[in-house]
Amino acid sequence: MKKISRRDFMGYSMKAGAATMFTGILAPTATSFFGYGGIAEAATRKIKPFTFAVLTDAHLYDIKNHKFDGFLEKAVDDINKLKPRPDMVLYAGDIGQSGKEAELLKGKKILDKLKMPYKVIPGEHDYYLDMGKAWRGLFGDEHWSFDHNGAHIIGMNSILVPDFWSMAGLTPKERMGRMEELECHRCGLWGVGDKQLEWLKKDVKNLSADTPVVIMTHSPLWNYYPRWNFQTHDAPEILAILSKFEKVVAIHGHVHQVVYNKMGNTVSAGLLSTSWPWPYPPVDLPYPDIRMNRVDPGDFEDGLGGHTLDVTAGFDGTMNYRAFSDLLPANVKRGIKL
Ligand SMILES: [Fe+2]
Ligand SMILES: [Fe+2]
Repeated sequence: MKKISRRDFMGYSMKAGAATMFTGILAPTATSFFGYGGIAEAATRKIKPFTFAVLTDAHLYDIKNHKFDGFLEKAVDDINKLKPRPDMVLYAGDIGQSGKEAELLKGKKILDKLKMPYKVIPGEHDYYLDMGKAWRGLFGDEHWSFDHNGAHIIGMNSILVPDFWSMAGLTPKERMGRMEELECHRCGLWGVGDKQLEWLKKDVKNLSADTPVVIMTHSPLWNYYPRWNFQTHDAPEILAILSKFEKVVAIHGHVHQVVYNKMGNTVSAGLLSTSWPWPYPPVDLPYPDIRMNRVDPGDFEDGLGGHTLDVTAGFDGTMNYRAFSDLLPANVKRGIKL
């Protein structure tokens, strides 16, 4: 596949082509990974190796020179300086804090400084003031897919909830305020919804089983901690649609922390934010040895960062957490092998 230009990349949208491959993710340590989930079958298809970067959860405020602006600028600058340069950047949602167009526009201006193409999906903080109108005006479709060097890469909007606001007579600002809460007990569980599920079925219908697939959502595709919407309620349907593939890599924002899981053919990785680190919820993790150290409250940048994913010719690869501070345990710092 030809190398995509920035313009081509932003224009990709909902095209299910005959993809080829893709990339990967994280396993904690070889021992724990294989011990829990078994050895993932290696894909046989040839890949043209590449690296892409991932950023998420900037939570920009409509306040001039807010410190979170600088954190996103720093992450963008870090990626721009990488050699070789990543082919693209994926952004996993929550550019803004309260869904204001000014927040989203500020984020776009910073992301536009990236020297490579980028694609974005919405988070709940981007969306519920105007139900995504400003976001779509700036970033385009809420779900999309494209092919790159043999990989098929998918982005979906996982933060959709049934209408809880009309009957309650909430204003748009009140609706956004509810959704901004970490624990909104009146908002319902997030999901992608039936329309996106139908789209996904069509999108992957003609892809062969050895096509490497990467899917990015804002919330995880497993029941990590539903109370904080660390879940996607129709993730089982998504995983069923993708179950025909030998290997799927799922990356997600929203949790603001290092976390990993494996579900059948799918490996899932959480991402660092560039705003603040959430504490780990009070649950046992399937892969506790990838838990990052808790942050230093005296260091505003602790727990923040960006990421790169290296994809190798054998549909193998490494997830690299590029933390701003030195808080990662040694096994995560080395990069998590796909
Ligand atoms: Fe977030
Ligand atoms: Fe979020």
